Amino acid sequence: MLSDNTCRALRAALTDSDYTVDAVVDLIGEEAHRALGRNSTVAAVRALRGRRDRLSTLTLLWPLQRPVPRDDLEIALPGVVDALMAAEVLSQQGSTVRAEIDIRPYASDDGAAGWVVSDLSPGLDSTVAPMRPDFVLGVSPASSTLAQLTVRRPVARALDLGTGCGVQSLHLARHADTVVATDLNPRAVELARLTFALNQVDVDLRLGSMYEPVEGEQFDLIVTNPPYVMSPPGPDADRLTYREGGWEADGLVQHVVQRGAELLADGGTLQVLANWAHPKDSASAEPNSGKGWADRLAAWIEPTGCDALVIQRETLDPYEYIELWLADAGLSGSPDYTKRYEEWLDYFERLGIAAVGMGWIVLHKTGRATPQVQIENWPYGVEQPIGPAIQAHRAAVDLEQRFSDADLLEQRWVLADDIVEESTATPGGAGLNQIVLRQQRGFRRAVEADTALAGILGACDGEMPLGRIVATVAEILEVDAAALQAETLPKVRMLVRDAFLGI
Ligand SMILES: C[S@@+](CC[C@H](N)C(=O)[O-])C[C@H]1O[C@@H](n2cnc3c(N)ncnc32)[C@H](O)[C@@H]1O
Repeated sequence: MLSDNTCRALRAALTDSDYTVDAVVDLIGEEAHRALGRNSTVAAVRALRGRRDRLSTLTLLWPLQRPVPRDDLEIALPGVVDALMAAEVLSQQGSTVRAEIDIRPYASDDGAAGWVVSDLSPGLDSTVAPMRPDFVLGVSPASSTLAQLTVRRPVARALDLGTGCGVQSLHLARHADTVVATDLNPRAVELARLTFALNQVDVDLRLGSMYEPVEGEQFDLIVTNPPYVMSPPGPDADRLTYREGGWEADGLVQHVVQRGAELLADGGTLQVLANWAHPKDSASAEPNSGKGWADRLAAWIEPTGCDALVIQRETLDPYEYIELWLADAGLSGSPDYTKRYEEWLDYFERLGIAAVGMGWIVLHKTGRATPQVQIENWPYGVEQPIGPAIQAHRAAVDLEQRFSDADLLEQRWVLADDIVEESTATPGGAGLNQIVLRQQRGFRRAVEADTALAGILGACDGEMPLGRIVATVAEILEVDAAALQAETLPKVRMLVRDAFLGI
């Protein structure tokens, strides 16, 4: 699409124009930048009225999708405008030029920074336009969620499955010796190639479906934000490759998880952003209740032999789900909106899908004789990036698994220093109603504690073995020590795994 020389010249021009996230925010202002995040360009365009400097020209051209005078663009991008035109990244109408492909600055809290190439953001300023089926999505909130979820320890080989605009590989290249990126969509491969060339990152880019391009290979880290949207079957022209894989229900996610586990090297990690179906009659079933979504996921994961942590972050009813994705496709207000809505509802009814869970699936190939699979609903705020807490959870499971019950009682545990105790009572009522211990960091989990557990945990300062603490609390509360010990041990195991207690 663009020669190496053109990419080098373009990179130099973007750098010289200071076309970075910070500079663009400074230029248009925080509020206009937030408005752009809501797909509204009006504030930013007003801020740039009358400006013809290089950064303003590039900001108008790409994030704001405005035509700019060719003369201005020649100054902003010296020597590359003709090549960008020939490659259909830009097009000319009279004396102005507009963008056909998006190139925008990117920056993240792990230091990944540069430029990302994708199709133009759809739906700016409430324009309604259906997208082409092979649309290549730019950096989305889901991309950022996966980037923040990713465990960033140094690894030899990483796989970015369904690379799209290539954003995950920009992150992976910072801590993996080799990055392989795949995509089914040839346009995605083409645009990701540009992203990598512009950022001078070395990524082994391959075209193909799912794991086919990497068959027989092994990876220490696989990350993917796959096309998990569960939509009814229809003509290919209606299916958006970036979000719909054409599998029934959540079959694609099941495949990504199960096949991905087979490609993990020993010690490797698979991290998937996903949607999953809640079967009818179990929509309100809690995890581990013996039925419902958590059991379906456990049934996919357990045969892999991997440890797993599954966090359901959100649950949508069918109407919320369908409306979300119809709007995402630019179909709000289109003539066949209601027809498509009805078809989608029929599809969910036929498959018995009562709700959809959205969240994170993390597998670790630990080689443990009894794999540890933890599946939970945690829709509350977490500390971002959450990747370090995912890594810490893996270490905490290792720690907990090393201890027999007798060892647990011998250990002098330490309550983590980010835990606060919250006590609530009914106004005017006598006594305490509830004690909650809440983490301030990581998953920011909360556990309800009775007086005994709160007393035990409060005494875990590394000085006294757990067994002695339990015996002392039993004596103070005048309860049976053996019974309290039996009741406390499984809770302590859970608290060690969830980073409330450490050594
Ligand atoms: C939601 S986008 C994610 C893009 C990017 N990884 C990110 O995090 O923003 C899903 C990507 O998967 C690709 N894809 C769709 N079906 C695929 C398949 N069968 N095999 C591989 N990639 C596929 C799409 O083309 C798209 O680029």
